Amino acid sequence: MKIVIVGTGYVGLVSGACLAEFGHEVICVDNNREKIERLKKGIIPIYEPGLDILVKKNIEEHCLSFTTDLSASIPEAEAVFLAVGTPSSRRGDGYADLTYIYDAARELAPHLRDYTVVIDKSTVPVGTARQVERIIREENPQAVFDVASNPEFLREGAAINDFMRPDRIVIGVESDQAEKILREIYKPLYLRETPLVCTTIETAELAKYAANAFLAVKISFINEIANVCEAVNANVIDLAKAIGMDGRIGNKFLHPGPGYGGSCFPKDTLALMRIVQEYGENVHIVTAAVEVNAAQKARMVKKIREMLGGNEAGKTVAVLGLTFKPETDDMRDSPSITIIPALLEKGAKIRVHDPQGMEEAKKYLPNTIEYTSTAYEAATGADCLVLLTEWNQYRALDFQRLKETMRSPVFIDLRNVYDPATVRNAGFSYTGVGRK
Ligand code: UDX
Repeated sequence: MKIVIVGTGYVGLVSGACLAEFGHEVICVDNNREKIERLKKGIIPIYEPGLDILVKKNIEEHCLSFTTDLSASIPEAEAVFLAVGTPSSRRGDGYADLTYIYDAARELAPHLRDYTVVIDKSTVPVGTARQVERIIREENPQAVFDVASNPEFLREGAAINDFMRPDRIVIGVESDQAEKILREIYKPLYLRETPLVCTTIETAELAKYAANAFLAVKISFINEIANVCEAVNANVIDLAKAIGMDGRIGNKFLHPGPGYGGSCFPKDTLALMRIVQEYGENVHIVTAAVEVNAAQKARMVKKIREMLGGNEAGKTVAVLGLTFKPETDDMRDSPSITIIPALLEKGAKIRVHDPQGMEEAKKYLPNTIEYTSTAYEAATGADCLVLLTEWNQYRALDFQRLKETMRSPVFIDLRNVYDPATVRNAGFSYTGVGRK
């Protein structure tokens, strides 16, 4: 099948490489010339494990190509995926900015030739597919096409596996022809018995927001319970196990921490709150999850202050991990962006290390922080060491070595990676999240 993907961001690039791997002929289009030139050589703009290998392999096998030219690629395509960005609007009101989607629809419309399905893959508010349809009709009244919604549920750092082995595929379609094409595209997956939920366009659009909002609620729930655990001297890790074994609750996304970040949960929860307002409805529970998430970040700052004896001024705080989660260089809405400036403001000196995110971090963090090349270098002379993102390379720290290099042996484990007794036995003061 001939497929065009418009937008070579996270979703577009991963989808393009994986659909090419399925054997489809995929052309990825982007209006950023420099990016496209680099992609043609197999140079990937983001860090995502395995993506570079997959892109190079499929370029060599002629299943995947890159271009800036929509006019040449669209006429041949049976399916066009819109995977351009939908950032929060610059107005700061939480609405998703759909300019890129609508611009893409406008640009591709004149080039549609035979029947084509135009599929929204980006996370877009309910009603966007209808708008895309209206725009294409306006621009090209002769076009023979359908619109569809096919939201993507991949996680950064595990994107290829998530695409290749999803829990489900969701497609929102209105015609048999569009459904047939989408089923054909995903045939390699449902041959592996991946369930496919075929529904209306609006349901598919809303399902994506509902999934992300639910996961955000789950994280905020366990973060609040973690705080209760601290108050009543309970252990949130055992508690999460105890409740998670109930199949109705499930054991995933019950890890307390410094609050969720990333390109999806913060943006999509806000967008959902705005969408429902327009319909005169409310999602109180999502609003609460957003508030709890902000409070959790502030609580982490307080936790660090307490471990420093109530005052950050003049103290050196070493931070391990800056990205919003491991295995990505993505800094968007990372808790580090809130926590580090709050510590700086109170007069702390900050030394940091991150395996992949330091270049990206420079765009988001004040330039007064010191970047170092190892965890041990970051810890040198520090009054406390904060584990903020649970990269694998921070999971087997040598506490004796850290103790020798730090000014005071204080370890703040915001991801509950370590067993408190082990760290304390190494001579450290220890605190985690949700366990005394
Ligand atoms: C998420 C969704 O998982 C994915 O389905 C959707 O397509 C995009 O948004 P992603 O943002 O890449 O993916 O990361 P995810 O692994 O879901 O983590 C998001 C945030 O939640 C991270 O900051 C992570 O640290 C935090 N988190 C996750 C927790 O604090 N506790 C958990 O138990 C799980």
